[in-house]
Amino acid sequence: MRLMVISARKVSQTYRSGGQPLAVLHDVDLAVAGGESIAIVGPSGSGKTTLLGLLAGLDRPSHGQVALLGTDLATLDEDARAAFRARHIGFVFQSFQLIPTLTALENVLVPMELAGRPAPPERHARATDLLCRVGLGDRLGHYPAQLSGGEQQRVALARAFANEPSILFADEPTGNLDSDTGALVIELLMRLNAEAGTTLVLVTHDLELADRTGRRVRLAAGRVIGS
Ligand SMILES: Nc1ncnc2c1ncn2[C@@H]1O[C@H](COP(=O)(O)OP(=O)(O)OP(=O)(O)O)[C@@H](O)[C@H]1O
Ligand SMILES: [Mg+2]
Repeated sequence: MRLMVISARKVSQTYRSGGQPLAVLHDVDLAVAGGESIAIVGPSGSGKTTLLGLLAGLDRPSHGQVALLGTDLATLDEDARAAFRARHIGFVFQSFQLIPTLTALENVLVPMELAGRPAPPERHARATDLLCRVGLGDRLGHYPAQLSGGEQQRVALARAFANEPSILFADEPTGNLDSDTGALVIELLMRLNAEAGTTLVLVTHDLELADRTGRRVRLAAGRVIGS
């Protein structure tokens, strides 16, 4: 059997809110092969961000199993999951989530510092190279507040690729950008992804963007309803 990079089996998530259980994902099955790119689409509130968080090991499901690169995430404690994420996973958020007190260059260095590799001089060279590749070679010393939204998201892209992740998760990466800036960010994301051969799982409301991935997974009210 072909080894799946992502394998989710009967994944369910129930939140407790105001004492009442609220089921937001129901028995989601999903398998993603190495190098594949998929778009998770569906209405607001259908569970897309929740599913992404579970697939990325940011959260644990109420029921079911998520395995990444053959490792069942349930076998890892919180620290081990964080280490696993640092080593294998990149994440791009709608709201950029850069560290405001660090420069662009320092933000891109963070994942390499957490992973403890490569060696420090190489870290610096890699961060600089990534920022040049997203067109920010002349913004290395800028703080997030001194960058436009599109520039911040390009720093976030460089950061996401810093550890040469096997899997990149992106949650509405263009959701806070105007359409021209969004298109530029998408071009960069797709290019970095293709160059690195990364497996890509993208949440988007942008159907044009969804069409650029290999496959669509549609969620409605917490269930997969096909493509
Ligand atoms: N921590 C939480 N506690 C309680 N309910 C939550 C929590 N996180 C999400 N929910 C609920 O789960 C449902 C799914 O949320 P989710 O953020 O996954 O939707 P989404 O598909 O990403 O929506 P959008 O397109 O608006 O980003 C929502 O109804 C939301 O209110
Ligand atoms: Mg969401």
